Amino acid sequence: MATGTAVRAEALVKTFGFTCALDGIDLEIPTGTVLGLLGPNGAGKTTAVRILTTLLRPDAGRAWVAGHDVVAEPNEVRKAIGLSGQYAAVDENLTGFENLYMVGRLYGMNKADARTRSRTLIDRFRLTDAADRPAKTYSGGMRRRLDLAGALVAEPQVVLLDEPTTGLDPRGRLDTWQVIGELVADGATVLLTTQYLEEADQLADTILVIDHGRVIASGSADRLKEEAGGERLELVVAEPAEVDAAIRVLAEIGTGEPTVDRHGKRVQVAVEAGAKSLIEALRRLDVEGVTVLDVGLHRPTLDDVFLSLTGHSADEETR
Ligand SMILES: Nc1ncnc2c1ncn2[C@@H]1O[C@H](COP(=O)(O)OP(=O)(O)O)[C@@H](O)[C@H]1O
Ligand SMILES: [Mg+2]
Repeated sequence: MATGTAVRAEALVKTFGFTCALDGIDLEIPTGTVLGLLGPNGAGKTTAVRILTTLLRPDAGRAWVAGHDVVAEPNEVRKAIGLSGQYAAVDENLTGFENLYMVGRLYGMNKADARTRSRTLIDRFRLTDAADRPAKTYSGGMRRRLDLAGALVAEPQVVLLDEPTTGLDPRGRLDTWQVIGELVADGATVLLTTQYLEEADQLADTILVIDHGRVIASGSADRLKEEAGGERLELVVAEPAEVDAAIRVLAEIGTGEPTVDRHGKRVQVAVEAGAKSLIEALRRLDVEGVTVLDVGLHRPTLDDVFLSLTGHSADEETR
């Protein structure tokens, strides 16, 4: 493994019965950077995390974490990582402090070190006021922060976060993003899985988009958005008979084929010139006598990226 590479996987394959969860995934995370593994439900994200954390053996392919082979040297790998799961591993009856202290002791820290480290993390994750309350009294966001803190007790070189914000409300999501951002600023190497392009956008240096166990795109968030065709112009016309005129105009102004929802009288296309494209579209539609009820520009969503990469939307069942 090259120096400066914290995690590397080559051609990982994992099958469950007839389901191919991973169909030959390669990935590489330079030390001190964040990789976002972005994909819809069932894409293979958790399977990849479980292999990298030695909880599952791959059927084929190899992986190394912190220089150690995940199959041949699982104990070395476990010493180097911190894992925070999609389903938080928090003991409800212990207080926040006790949860962290227990993890420290399990990792072999002496009492004084475990106590100091737990206090530091409690403060850093803004749980100070709740430190001595049982975790069952915590909100979803607090619980998730406690789980994240648990992954950091042993000061791991590599942190793996499996959907750290799924199920959180916007406030809880922002809190968690801030905490992950601090982790990153401290120089940790992070693998983060998510279903949200926006989250990968905020936190990841590089994004790997996966679908059906394969990598379908990779690069920075900006590059992925460009691949999805940049900003989208969307409008709703008043009459069904006006939809065809709207498609014609948007096809001229946009960079790809417009997508159409005839029932909703809604037409959408990717545009390069943002507000200028919007004004130009409205001008031409006005000349054609088309009544526009609603119009707007939006940044590509994960759904737009998926639609343009795979031809199906992220939440569509295609198996
Ligand atoms: N233990 C298992 N037994 C059978 N099928 C599984 C198992 N774990 C995952 N799968 C299947 O493998 C695919 C990938 O799952 P997973 O890695 O959990 O995806 P994600 O985390 O991206 O939602 C899914 O089709 C899932 O149903
Ligand atoms: Mg998962």
